[in-house]
Amino acid sequence: MSALLRSWAWWVTKGVGRSLLAFGYTAAYVVIVVASLMQARTSVAALLLAIVLLAAGVAALIWFPRFAPGAGDWRRWRKARGTRRAAVQGYRHAVGMRLIPALSDDDYEWAMRRPVKRLPSARFRVMPDWVVLTVAQTQAATTDELVKRAESYAPVAAAPADWVTVQRQTDAVVRIVWRRAAPVDQLAESLPFQMVPASADPIAPVLVGRTDTGVEYRLNVFDRQTLVLGASGAGKGSWLWSTVLALTPHIKAGTVEVWGADLKGLVELSAALPMFARKARTFEEAAEMIAALRVEVDHRLEHMVSVGSRKHVPTREEPGRLMIFDEFSSLIFSAPSSKEKAAVEADLKSILSRGRAARINVLAFAQDPRADSLLARPLFTNVVGLRFRTADDTKLAIGPAAYDAGAKCELIPQSTPGVGYAMDEESGTVQRVRAF
Ligand SMILES: Nc1ncnc2c1ncn2[C@@H]1O[C@H](COP(=O)(O)OP(=O)(O)OP(=O)(O)O)[C@@H](O)[C@H]1O
Ligand SMILES: [Mg+2]
Repeated sequence: MSALLRSWAWWVTKGVGRSLLAFGYTAAYVVIVVASLMQARTSVAALLLAIVLLAAGVAALIWFPRFAPGAGDWRRWRKARGTRRAAVQGYRHAVGMRLIPALSDDDYEWAMRRPVKRLPSARFRVMPDWVVLTVAQTQAATTDELVKRAESYAPVAAAPADWVTVQRQTDAVVRIVWRRAAPVDQLAESLPFQMVPASADPIAPVLVGRTDTGVEYRLNVFDRQTLVLGASGAGKGSWLWSTVLALTPHIKAGTVEVWGADLKGLVELSAALPMFARKARTFEEAAEMIAALRVEVDHRLEHMVSVGSRKHVPTREEPGRLMIFDEFSSLIFSAPSSKEKAAVEADLKSILSRGRAARINVLAFAQDPRADSLLARPLFTNVVGLRFRTADDTKLAIGPAAYDAGAKCELIPQSTPGVGYAMDEESGTVQRVRAF
């Protein structure tokens, strides 16, 4: 007789036993009441007995609800059956995914007599939204490997392969979750612009949008050199304006200055030209602007060395400076000669590599992710990849590591401009973000 049948038989026997007990109790009670009504002489004593018995019966039901036969037993039996099934299927799927070795036939037969106790620790549960396998892993496999295995194992787990996650609960215990339905995308709808009270620090990261977990996302413009890349219409404009608008209190106070460059006629920046303390619309103007910034970086750094300070503190006299460059690749293509291009490149490299301590930073926007269309590309350490047409473009923009970590810019739908993956090389984080 299988263990399952035996446990079931046990619950049934117990249920029937309890039913008989309760039935006998009730029957005795009825007999006493009826007899007392027929035999007037014993009626007073019988009535007292009946009252005591009734009180005892009610008390028993209140204090020991398990005294009621059937329902509780049935529930417990179902729970035990669920645990047992989770353990048996857990074992089966854990072996199927090569997380634990299979037992020999004898061991398996022995274990199946008390599977919850004797099978290796694994649970497999099917829920409306998730299928979850939790296993104490005893065979080697990295988390990345497990993600791949879980994806190919999805049909066996009767779940789609699209939304698999592998979590480590402890070093050994791994939890594999197959989502059964597409997660609701927090970034599907455009976000209303949100202005928070300006921080006291003018160079603190600025709130420009939200991540896909609903958390506020702040762009660290004054502690990084930032490059935002994306196909035409991907929403670079919203990253630009969210940043500028978040800086307005400091621009008004004079502790931050934004300089704007756009060699395609300042189209984007024309929406709010007065915000920009200095503007460049031709290659020559841009080259002058960059040269001026380089000189200022030199001055500030010299001054900092002389006073022994490591970071420039912005003031109204010497504000934090952010050079915003739309259509950044036009800087390469509109250079009149390679000599002039080289000069701009040298200045730009100097700013990008040393400007941070002096609080002179660059925020550049471009469509083309190829390095030969972006001056000094490797010196941008904070890169945002918005929508691209191809996987190759995505990899060029944010690098293969971020791509493998899930930053698939080519899958961002056209209907969600402003959505992208923000990759901070210095902290090694990649976040999916939508700008306001
Ligand atoms: N975060 C956003 N939320 C909602 N709509 C947005 C967002 N960002 C951009 N859009 C809309 O998407 C469209 C294209 O955006 P945008 O002009 O910023 O693209 P772009 O990346 O600058 O393209 P191009 O390189 O051609 O200038 C615009 O109509 C804009 O209103
Ligand atoms: Mg644009």
